[in-house]
Amino acid sequence: MKKTIEDFNLKSKKVIIRVDFNVPMKDGNITDDNRIKESLKTIQYAIENGARVILLSHLGRVKEESDLEKNDLSPVAIRLGELLKKEVLFVESTRGPIVEVAIQNMKDGDVLLIQNTRYEDLYGKLESSNDEELGSYWASLGDIFINDAFGTCHRAHASNVGIASHLPSGLGFLVEKELNQLTVALQNELHPYTVILGGAKVSDKVGVIESLGKKADYILIGGAMAYTFLKAKGIDVKSSLVDTESIPFCEDMLEKYKDKIILPIDSVNAKEISEENMHTCEIESFKENDIGLDIGPKTVSLFKEYLQKSKLIVWNGTLGYAELEAFSHGTKAILDILKDIEAIKIIGGGDTAASVISLGYKDYMTHISTGGGASLELLEGKQLPGIVAIEDKDE
Ligand code: 3PG
Repeated sequence: MKKTIEDFNLKSKKVIIRVDFNVPMKDGNITDDNRIKESLKTIQYAIENGARVILLSHLGRVKEESDLEKNDLSPVAIRLGELLKKEVLFVESTRGPIVEVAIQNMKDGDVLLIQNTRYEDLYGKLESSNDEELGSYWASLGDIFINDAFGTCHRAHASNVGIASHLPSGLGFLVEKELNQLTVALQNELHPYTVILGGAKVSDKVGVIESLGKKADYILIGGAMAYTFLKAKGIDVKSSLVDTESIPFCEDMLEKYKDKIILPIDSVNAKEISEENMHTCEIESFKENDIGLDIGPKTVSLFKEYLQKSKLIVWNGTLGYAELEAFSHGTKAILDILKDIEAIKIIGGGDTAASVISLGYKDYMTHISTGGGASLELLEGKQLPGIVAIEDKDE
């Protein structure tokens, strides 16, 4: 068992909390603040217990100078302040006197957000390569380290694993909640257990398909990855996106789990990624140059049969090209079905979580993970370095 924030006396301590504020932004505006909201419980607990709260997060990926401005964390400080209903101090730098003086001036209950940890990636990937000097520098700014960035737990970076190796450490409430909920899906006790998988590339999901193949009763496959499976089954999917290198893997899975893997039986197609010439056809009747972009109504009915008898449902990846409204109907139809089903329903982060929330289905789900990659790795049965690095509870 790992220590948690509740195992520490936080009064007057400088508590570094690693949060995942990697939120989607458009023109400097946050388009989905779910990850900020999900971090509030831990931050509020720290404030109420008299901590001086120092927040660290990454935002996006920083490879060149031009990535700095678009990945500036300051809009997040403003939104967090609104949600906490208190001032959130923001420092523009990731290290140096500005950061140190701001921390020295903090009082109990103050909250400070430091600039995007990945600004440290600009010259030498210091954050992402878990640079020893950087991790130990950030640790020197605090007394206690709390990891509440579930979405980043599959990364071994300076701002999580690096700091944890130098300070007393524990998990925050969000990470605890995620682990508890996702463990239900790992325990293999509720059946029928149905997994819905979508998204573009089979190669991103090889591990999870292999591991869930053993545990789940049914794997319903949609999204662009379905067309790679269909091609592996010998179906001519014309111009659909096919992950050619993954075909041998798909053939193998279809052979091994032929009664478990359920593929689309019809498809919504177009000649290019646009509504023009959009049409629905049986899976074996693709026309020349057709690109498959969504599951069709017959597939929705087929998937419904499996979902209705399930006790546990885990979903990762949208079922069509959901960025375009025209190709989001399959995803929406499945959400409508799930709404009325009495089962444990877990949504594994990323685009699926964003769709569930923006389409208004949040309250019908048992758990919506804040981590796309992290929840997938957990479901694969992997150990997450951001969690391994945290201290164990005293026996
Ligand atoms: C995520 O959005 O999955 C996490 O914040 C991790 O981001 P990354 O894939 O850029 O490391």
